[in-house]
Amino acid sequence: MEHAVPARILLVDDNPVVLFKVAHVLSGAGYTVIEAKTGSEGLALARSEHPDLILLDVRLPDINGIEVCRRLKASPETSRLFVVMLSEKETSAESQAGGLEAGADSYIARPIENRELIARIQAMLRIQQAESALRVAQAELEHRVAERTAELSQANAALRAMSLRLVEVQEKERRFVAHELHDQLGQTLTGLKLVLEMSLKPTNPAQAESFAEALRLIDDLMERIRRLSVDLRPHMLDDLGLVPALEWHFRRFGKQTGIQVQLKRTATFNRLPAPIETAAYRIVQEALTNVARHSGAKEADVRLWAGDERLRVQVQDRGKGFHAEQALAARNSTGLAGMRERAELLGGEFTLESSPGSGTLITVELPLPATGEWEPALSGAGI
Ligand SMILES: Nc1ncnc2c1ncn2[C@@H]1O[C@H](COP(=O)(O)OP(=O)(O)OP(=O)(O)O)[C@@H](O)[C@H]1O
Ligand SMILES: [Mg+2]
Repeated sequence: MEHAVPARILLVDDNPVVLFKVAHVLSGAGYTVIEAKTGSEGLALARSEHPDLILLDVRLPDINGIEVCRRLKASPETSRLFVVMLSEKETSAESQAGGLEAGADSYIARPIENRELIARIQAMLRIQQAESALRVAQAELEHRVAERTAELSQANAALRAMSLRLVEVQEKERRFVAHELHDQLGQTLTGLKLVLEMSLKPTNPAQAESFAEALRLIDDLMERIRRLSVDLRPHMLDDLGLVPALEWHFRRFGKQTGIQVQLKRTATFNRLPAPIETAAYRIVQEALTNVARHSGAKEADVRLWAGDERLRVQVQDRGKGFHAEQALAARNSTGLAGMRERAELLGGEFTLESSPGSGTLITVELPLPATGEWEPALSGAGI
């Protein structure tokens, strides 16, 4: 690779004869030569001129050439400049090693043939050019990687926002339908039952029997609607908070499955932000469903710790356990993946510990916003 403009070489030597001779040879070979007679002058010109190469004498009147080289290499402004130590008197292996240790890129001992000097300078310039081309390519690559990373994290953030929004909408819908079922349909059926009881007067036993059957059907319908409504979203979660809603769920779960759930929790448990209460409730619900469907255990423990900064939720059973990694990697089950997603959407963590024969422990940590930064969950509040 040839220089489009002639390479600029800074020549630092206190001997005017050497300075003249070398400068003459270099300009004869087509290089632009900048001359300095002392170490400090050399340092100043290196900073202001940024030459392609510095030819540096070892013995200088003010600052020793090796020290000049060390300072050039230590300063970010000049550390990338190519330095070739050039000396007639200091040619010992030790002195050469000292120069290279100070960061010099090469060492030329004089006397040296003019042709060899030029050939060596050309070789150094080729290395210097290859190095700077490599640096440009590396910078370009790093820039592209940074751009792609930024694009990816933007896309990720957009996806997370969308998933969070989906969970919010789903929960809002559930709350709405649960409310409609419970309040509107429930009240209408209560009204219907009252009207029937007041207006219909059966005149014979057969009619009385049908009438009683109709009332039983209405009761049954009311009960089904009530159950459907709480399955969709228990109103205690909005009205009373996480702990009462979970306690209620454990009682119902115990009746349905025969599994006793023990709750252990920190003594004080204030209301938490609605999205956190909802996520914790849904995760425990899902984990307990798994205990009932897969573990074979007859007992489960649920633990809740609410600190200043995080809520930690654990669900543990001592049932048959399973290969945790395999289950997490499998794409066909949504329960575990859903728990993890709920936790991560709120900036939290989900950990699963299980192996065949040793039961299952699920731990979820959800960060809590600082007090004053959130409104406590209220009835009907958005998730
Ligand atoms: N507490 C548990 N004890 C034993 N095995 C479990 C437990 N929890 C999960 N598993 C195993 O991990 C698998 C994945 O659970 P996951 O909840 O993701 O899916 P699922 O319960 O099979 O289906 P769904 O998507 O309806 O929840 C289960 O099929 C079961 O083999
Ligand atoms: Mg499941």
